[in-house]
Amino acid sequence: MTKTAIIGASGFVGRHLLKAYRRAHPDTIGTSFSQARADLAPFDIRKPDLASLKLREKGYQAVLVTSAKPNIGYCEQHKEEAYAVNVGGMLELLRQAAGLGLQPIFLSTDYVFDGVTGGYDDDAPTRPGTEYGRQKEAVEKELPRIAANHLVIRLSKIYGVDKGDATLLDDFASSLLAGKPLSVATDQVFSPTFVDDLVASILAIQEKGLRGVVNVCSPEAWSRYDVAAGMAKELGLDPARINAIKLHSLAAMAGRPLNTSMKCSRLAAASKPAFTPLRDQMRRVAANWKPG
Ligand SMILES: NC(=O)c1ccc[n+]([C@@H]2O[C@H](COP(=O)([O-])OP(=O)(O)OC[C@H]3O[C@@H](n4cnc5c(N)ncnc54)[C@H](OP(=O)(O)O)[C@@H]3O)[C@@H](O)[C@H]2O)c1
Repeated sequence: MTKTAIIGASGFVGRHLLKAYRRAHPDTIGTSFSQARADLAPFDIRKPDLASLKLREKGYQAVLVTSAKPNIGYCEQHKEEAYAVNVGGMLELLRQAAGLGLQPIFLSTDYVFDGVTGGYDDDAPTRPGTEYGRQKEAVEKELPRIAANHLVIRLSKIYGVDKGDATLLDDFASSLLAGKPLSVATDQVFSPTFVDDLVASILAIQEKGLRGVVNVCSPEAWSRYDVAAGMAKELGLDPARINAIKLHSLAAMAGRPLNTSMKCSRLAAASKPAFTPLRDQMRRVAANWKPG
């Protein structure tokens, strides 16, 4: 396994990646920012000092950056603060990695697409409608000038199956069981992907030595409404309690792409990725929440 440091290992994706890398290399370096953690090194991407981690000396070959300000509303409302992390600090860090002879690996998003057609493949033209998407696109476009061996891994919605992880399925389960009123878009379509499948795909991408942009997501495209309704059924609740809406009927959702489902031709050509069906995971998450 390529020895890879994780910048942003206190976040959802980063912590799952770090766990996998530490299975092979128990001393794998991971960093955190606002969370003080004994097992992670403190690191602020806005003032990156990668040399201080002495990665080359310790045999690292790659730096995978999961640090970000990924909240779409936050990016819209705090453009400069988000830019300082998502673009300014990110590019400086990726440059430092390349300068140290380490492969820079960046996690991007399906929000770089305009969401008009869905089914976007690795090389589909980007046209983001949100500040978050524009910031991610800016890094995607600059990274080839920084390092020929760079990797951009593009993700759709990533979810876990642990109770209380507050990701897609857990969130719907908790809200539905609490009887909260839910309005969910029928026209927002994406490719929800189990975090362990993402981690396995990233390890396969590294093992195969892929370069450039690689989409990674489950082949299943789901509307957000169908995910919520599926979760309700698994919990034995009536999906009719969920209010079906159009995404752009909510003022706060202006500019958000509708169908960001992706295809993963490069990944499929290089490995045989296994993606867990979302239905199976709904059952698993429902079981977390059922009494007894
Ligand atoms: N999760 C998804 O569904 C999804 C979908 C598409 C793309 N992505 C991309 O995947 C990556 C990981 O996402 P995630 O969901 O795991 O995000 P997350 O849970 O919000 O984690 C963000 C990470 O960034 C760190 N961070 C924030 N500000 C920082 C700073 N100034 N300096 C250094 N680190 C800083 C956080 O550290 P502290 O917590 O210690 O402050 C945390 O480790 C992001 O690039 C995101 O855009 C995620």
